[in-house]
Amino acid sequence: MAANKKTSANNSVRVGIIGVGIGQAHIKGYSKVPQANIAALCDLDENRARQVAGDNKLENVDIVSDYRALLDRSDIDAVSVCLPNSLHAPIAIAALQAGKHVICEKPLATTSKEAQKIADAATKSGKKCMVAQVKRFGPEARALKQIMESGALGNIYYGHAFWLRKRGIPGYGGWFTTKAMSGGGPLIDIGVHLLDAAWWLAGCPQPVAVMGATYAEFGPKGKGLGGWGVQKNPKGTFDVEDLAVGLIRFANGMTINLEVSWALHTERENQGVELFGSDGGCEWTNSVALFREVNNLPTVSKLEIPSGDAWQGEMQHFIDSILNDTTPDPDAAQGVWMMKMLEGLYKSAETKREVVIK
Ligand SMILES: NC(=O)c1ccc[n+]([C@@H]2O[C@H](COP(=O)([O-])OP(=O)(O)OC[C@H]3O[C@@H](n4cnc5c(N)ncnc54)[C@H](O)[C@@H]3O)[C@@H](O)[C@H]2O)c1
Repeated sequence: MAANKKTSANNSVRVGIIGVGIGQAHIKGYSKVPQANIAALCDLDENRARQVAGDNKLENVDIVSDYRALLDRSDIDAVSVCLPNSLHAPIAIAALQAGKHVICEKPLATTSKEAQKIADAATKSGKKCMVAQVKRFGPEARALKQIMESGALGNIYYGHAFWLRKRGIPGYGGWFTTKAMSGGGPLIDIGVHLLDAAWWLAGCPQPVAVMGATYAEFGPKGKGLGGWGVQKNPKGTFDVEDLAVGLIRFANGMTINLEVSWALHTERENQGVELFGSDGGCEWTNSVALFREVNNLPTVSKLEIPSGDAWQGEMQHFIDSILNDTTPDPDAAQGVWMMKMLEGLYKSAETKREVVIK
């Protein structure tokens, strides 16, 4: 049972969720966090919000359609921003200005400039601002991060991050395929998950340059539709890519090669991160494999993964950062760097040149 838990006032955080698409995963995460108390749901589609409240047995929550009504409530401490990408900046900034802690879905914004405005608003308000990069919180990620931090793989010099979907365009004509609302296609939608995971596992080195290319061979022809997204109008807008590839270069010499598609003629339908270091390598797909040399022979071992739930881990981390006054990871500053990498890849695709990141 989720949600309206009774906790003492100073050890509890009352949250509001704005947008109940992926916001439903936030609800499930919070429901397993003893110090979180869901107080309100907001969605333009009030019926959807009501339905979600019922499905999650949230009994005493307020349902509103205007986010300003939620932000006006002084008893709400924190909000989850789970809205189309172009609404992240205006609504996250409004929430911070209203004195709320914010966890904002990925990508932090649609441009690095907007992301920086969110980071500035967070600094000014003194409130927490976390980017919801849920892949950092799964049990595989946590176990692999420990290996990376132990130095067992040595100096990491090359990474490969990928998420290939064969037929996964999330509807035509909805916000996902409309650049003005999404900021881009699979690169900013799902590429952000894998690039962030690889970057974080490697210790978040400073990006210095990117080279990218994007293609749209399915969407403009009304092909490649997947099971995601609300609107499926084959004549609707599709002005984003359906494949993006790129290389990101970092100040420490490391490079990450990124491949991400919503639609592609391939047998592969998978996602993962590979990292290669001076003393070993790893591959994280459905499981995690480690590659090391033992007695001069290449040796493979599987990493033991404890059980765990990424959404619970993510929400627990956000709530802990509020209660313990610690910096959430990733914070808005990391979200700005991520936006600089993504934006640079799009610019490079457009100009057909390497783009310097600073
Ligand atoms: N972390 C993940 O794995 C993951 C998965 C999916 C989506 N996302 C991210 O979550 C965000 C939302 O994506 P989604 O899949 O839930 O989209 P969605 O379209 O399914 O849901 C968005 C919801 O926001 C509501 N909404 C739109 N404008 C609003 C407004 N002004 N005020 C209140 N409600 C409003 C819509 O009615 C809709 O119910 C995006 O940034 C996306 O990138 C993250």
